Amino acid sequence: MAYETLLTEVDEAVAIITLNRPDALNAFNNALMDELTEALDRFDNDASIGCIVITGSKKAFAAGADIKEMREQSYLDAYYADFITRNWERASRMRKPVIAAVSGYALGGGCELAMMCDFILAAENAKFGQPEITIGVSPGAGGTQRLTRFAGKSKAMEMCLTGRMMDAEEAERCGLVSRIVPTDDLVDEARSVARKIASLPRATAMMTKEMVNAAYETTLSQGVMFERRLFHSLFATEDQKEGMEAFVEKREPHFKNR
Ligand code: CAA
Repeated sequence: MAYETLLTEVDEAVAIITLNRPDALNAFNNALMDELTEALDRFDNDASIGCIVITGSKKAFAAGADIKEMREQSYLDAYYADFITRNWERASRMRKPVIAAVSGYALGGGCELAMMCDFILAAENAKFGQPEITIGVSPGAGGTQRLTRFAGKSKAMEMCLTGRMMDAEEAERCGLVSRIVPTDDLVDEARSVARKIASLPRATAMMTKEMVNAAYETTLSQGVMFERRLFHSLFATEDQKEGMEAFVEKREPHFKNR
């Protein structure tokens, strides 16, 4: 399917979505958000896909919501149309694993989209920030909540109150990104990690994602119980039998996502 603001590629069981508004550093206008939502829906529901990568250009993952599109909005325009914020939670409701491969700027909504993904691989040139205060607004797609959970109150507060950007090394130190890769290798590395995830038992990956996410929503004892129930349920899958048999027989497993 052809999009105006995205490029999509399917590479066996991996889908790669590239944000593609180069003239606006991939700023999110409503057209891009609608197309991104459509693409995420499509790949989440496509049985041949096991993992999704969202990336941008070398210069910008995304520079946030489109300021030129937003500037004339009134409060009620924004409120009634859920302008800019509509569709925003789609990425955080994906059932399949989603990797953000961030090169260059991930600012405002760009940082927020990256944080909605399951983990962030950062290029050496990545820069993260919530600069909304410098244009008179606050983060509006979860930035104050998710950055605080990743980086802690002090760093999140400083970044949201000043608009300061952090580089890839600071982002790795504070746990915002899983690791840093050379800028030119970012997409290949993300593709290879996504292939690895897609090659593993699908239901186990999807449930493991639910378990990790539960750590942000529940008490420790509720989260541990949730994990235990899903762990037990995986013994109902053929892939559990195959995985353990292959280990004992010292051979490669052949998973069927059953
Ligand atoms: N919206 C619309 N257009 C944008 C944009 C944005 N968020 N960010 C960049 N652009 C456009 C610029 O206007 C420019 O277009 P023209 O060539 O037509 O002038 C083009 O992209 C290139 O940008 P710059 O010339 O500014 O490039 P630079 O290398 O000098 O600076 C930058 C790069 C530091 C990222 C700078 O563009 C910038 O500060 N962008 C805005 C970042 C921002 O404030 N984001 C938060 C948006 S609000 C938000 O996201 C709300 C939310 O939480 C949902």
